[in-house]
Amino acid sequence: MAFRLALIHRRVISNEKNGRKSLHTLHVERQEQAERSVLISCQTSTNEKKFLKYLTKHGEINKYFFYESYGVYAVVEFANQESVASLLEGVAIPGGSHESAVPFKSRLLSLRNLGSVDSSNQLSGWQCQPQTTIPINELIKRLSREESINKQISSLTEAYQLTEENSRLRFLVCSLLKDIATAYFPECTIKPFGSSVNGFGKLGCDLDMLLDLDSISGRNVKLPKSGLSLEYQMKRANSERAVTQSILSVIGKCVDQFGPGCVGVQKILNARCPLVRFAHQPSGFQCDLTANNRVAMKSTELLYLYGELDPRVRSLVFTVRCWARAHGVTSSIPGAWITNFSLTVMVLFFLQKRSPPIIPTLDHLRDLAGPADKSVIEGNDCTFVSDFNKIQLQSNTETLEQLLGEFFEFYATFPFSRMSLNIRKGKEQNKPEVAPLHIQNPFETSLNVSKNVNASQLDRFVALCQESAWLLQQSETSTPRGSGVGDEGAPTPWGLATLLLPSQVAGIKSRKKRRREPASERIKGLLESLKNKNQLKKS
Ligand code: CTP
Ligand code: MG
Repeated sequence: MAFRLALIHRRVISNEKNGRKSLHTLHVERQEQAERSVLISCQTSTNEKKFLKYLTKHGEINKYFFYESYGVYAVVEFANQESVASLLEGVAIPGGSHESAVPFKSRLLSLRNLGSVDSSNQLSGWQCQPQTTIPINELIKRLSREESINKQISSLTEAYQLTEENSRLRFLVCSLLKDIATAYFPECTIKPFGSSVNGFGKLGCDLDMLLDLDSISGRNVKLPKSGLSLEYQMKRANSERAVTQSILSVIGKCVDQFGPGCVGVQKILNARCPLVRFAHQPSGFQCDLTANNRVAMKSTELLYLYGELDPRVRSLVFTVRCWARAHGVTSSIPGAWITNFSLTVMVLFFLQKRSPPIIPTLDHLRDLAGPADKSVIEGNDCTFVSDFNKIQLQSNTETLEQLLGEFFEFYATFPFSRMSLNIRKGKEQNKPEVAPLHIQNPFETSLNVSKNVNASQLDRFVALCQESAWLLQQSETSTPRGSGVGDEGAPTPWGLATLLLPSQVAGIKSRKKRRREPASERIKGLLESLKNKNQLKKS
């Protein structure tokens, strides 16, 4: 089975690379697959052959795979949707004497006592598809064995990116949630957005979901002069935000009370973007459900497009995100940290500033847009081209190794105190308001994407960029250590692996504290070497 899955995986990746599907096409395909799929909780003693024989009674199976998350689960995709209906017809709803279950036939099922245990064919760990990334120490070892920094970057991307299976599971969880939400809104769909689909998600990242009612929203539709329209006493609220809050409030309650496997449901309705947060236990995903968040879907599309334009974009974003997480520049807890989204925009801005640029500006993508691409959301121009073939790239041949070093140098010396980053223009501009880090929101241009970041977090980021730029310039860190082995037989870290080790400068907590302490010799040396390099470049 592993061999077959590997083949399927490779075919899908190569198709996507050659055909460069739009995010919209990807959504349609994946949603349709998810509708034909079920999620089954199995036992480790489950006999795979009997399991398949039992399920194929209901119809042909297109694909299936197993994974572990508080137990073993199987995702099974049938060739036809009728098979799911047939399967559900036969399922039993357990009734107990002490507890009563809500009789809701979801596509999340549990398999019991399917034949005898046959040790030669029972499920075992190696067949399970990984749903989380390898631990950082293991990654460091893996990278240290590579023979070039370029290979290290590719290896990191390979290890961290979402797999075909994980991506399918994300769409399936959205589809299961949709089954609940349709109790209130039969026309709704639930779509993943953010890092689950923008090409920059790492295994284990949150699942951002959007409850989409656009098919009946009435937006951009003229009311006909005669004929039927909805009941005149239709419920109304005094703002779109209030409607979103009330929709999320009832869906949140429904998920809490009837959502199989949904635990820890929190309604966070007063946030700038109201949401319902919960854990989906069978998949292990932390979920954020939002509604009426169309700009976020546009920025997801934009990030996806940039990631598809040149393979260096995704690799550099993965590397910088991993580096930032290793040093606590980003965090899973909300706060004054730089977010992955801000960091991604910083990488995009840097790539626009290369000479020649690796990716075009957002204004250029807007100029290439056709009439069907036009999109204005709440007064914000979100128009940009969707046809990849219209985009002409310039021939920049810089390697990932060069780009990584240049990225750190760029931000080690960026005038953050005066300038704001703007990917619409691909240029820095004077800050429109006071904030330590100012990154213009690409679509809601009056907003700062990194408003939450405080001065000490920015200082840490800059200090770490300085350190990493310096480390990459040292021959002892930037060249492979041959077969040298360090403690406990692990290969000696070098190159990118060195950048992921605990830092000498990461301890800097705040500006005040740093002012009182003399700058370490290491940072002084590092700044000197950067200055010299810059002077050499200018002369
Ligand atoms: N988003 C946005 N403006 C912001 C923050 C987020 O438009 N100020 C959108 C982006 O499209 C982003 C998505 O909302 O990708 C989800 O936000 P978030 O979960 O914070 O970021 P992710 O990109 O999903 O990254 P992570 O892996 O950290 O979840
Ligand atoms: Mg996210």
